[in-house]
Amino acid sequence: MKNNCAVIGLGWVGKTICYSLIKEELFDNIFLIDINEKIVEAEIMDLSDGSLLSSLSKVKKGSYEDLKTCNFVIITAGVPQTSVSTRLAQTDQAIKIFDSILDNIKKVNYDKFIVICSNPIDILTYYTVKKLNYDYHKVIGSGTLLDTNRYKNLLSDILNIDPKNINGYVVGEHGGGAVTLFSSTLINNVPLRTYLSENNLTLNEEELETKIKRRGFEIVIRKNATYFGVSECVVNIVKNIIFDTNKILPLSIISLSKDFAYSHLVNVNKNGIEFSKEEILLIDDNEKGKLENSKNKLRNLIIDKKL
Ligand SMILES: NC(=O)c1ccc[n+]([C@@H]2O[C@H](COP(=O)([O-])OP(=O)(O)OC[C@H]3O[C@@H](n4cnc5c(N)ncnc54)[C@H](O)[C@@H]3O)[C@@H](O)[C@H]2O)c1
Repeated sequence: MKNNCAVIGLGWVGKTICYSLIKEELFDNIFLIDINEKIVEAEIMDLSDGSLLSSLSKVKKGSYEDLKTCNFVIITAGVPQTSVSTRLAQTDQAIKIFDSILDNIKKVNYDKFIVICSNPIDILTYYTVKKLNYDYHKVIGSGTLLDTNRYKNLLSDILNIDPKNINGYVVGEHGGGAVTLFSSTLINNVPLRTYLSENNLTLNEEELETKIKRRGFEIVIRKNATYFGVSECVVNIVKNIIFDTNKILPLSIISLSKDFAYSHLVNVNKNGIEFSKEEILLIDDNEKGKLENSKNKLRNLIIDKKL
């Protein structure tokens, strides 16, 4: 059987993901779906012109029927990004878009992996599992993987070290309620706070956390959208599933109480995602409090909106 994928939504994020997937040659066929037919036609022409010499993957105009041949569906359809409103404020519009997409997914009885990067991700991850009555291990929100990359990039600039030498995570809500786990961060295997004191360095954690949360907006203010960062995250998630790596990543998953979704450390493998046994045991009380607030915010929004 062919290894196929569908990308739903071909705006900035969708087309960038398509380009990265083509370059990685992870799929035989990538089916493109968007309510804007002209965009689909244009992207197929441009993406196939841009991959003829370097990739075996093919891009094709897709329909929901094509999902029957796919192992992955990546949803990026959504409300255009803005620097003036929060991701959660877009919930009503995003749910309307998702209702039409999920109805179509249901009609074709698709039951493989669904990767979501549309915002608000945590709400839409929860909504997808609930509306489709789906196996939650197979619905993966890209969550705070991007926030985590932003944390590592910003911290590496401050400390002047390679970001790959930083082992640390951002969890909770993707966006305004994201919680940076400074207390469990390791720099070359040394706890961050010990590393700072041993090197006579100071770090304003609150300031850094604000910068991580604002980074998306700062990009949108300057070029109206962000897409390379999230695209890298989505391709990484897909690769870790396909190659059955058991990598630990901070991704949006249904909570153990099953009444909302948020980013937590999950184990990624050929079965999808599962809560990691490598629990965040070392986080301090301040971070525990912030994470509880972040979770409550998401849970309460779902109750308020009756989702
Ligand atoms: N997870 C992250 O880290 C991250 C980062 C950047 C953007 N995003 C989110 O990704 C989403 C897309 O952002 P973008 O900049 O590409 O937006 P965009 O406006 O450029 O593209 C959205 C696309 O979705 C399509 N669409 C709308 N309704 C549809 C439907 N019912 N079926 C199929 N297609 C439909 C539109 O025609 C458009 O082509 C937004 O929700 C944005 O907030 C997430």
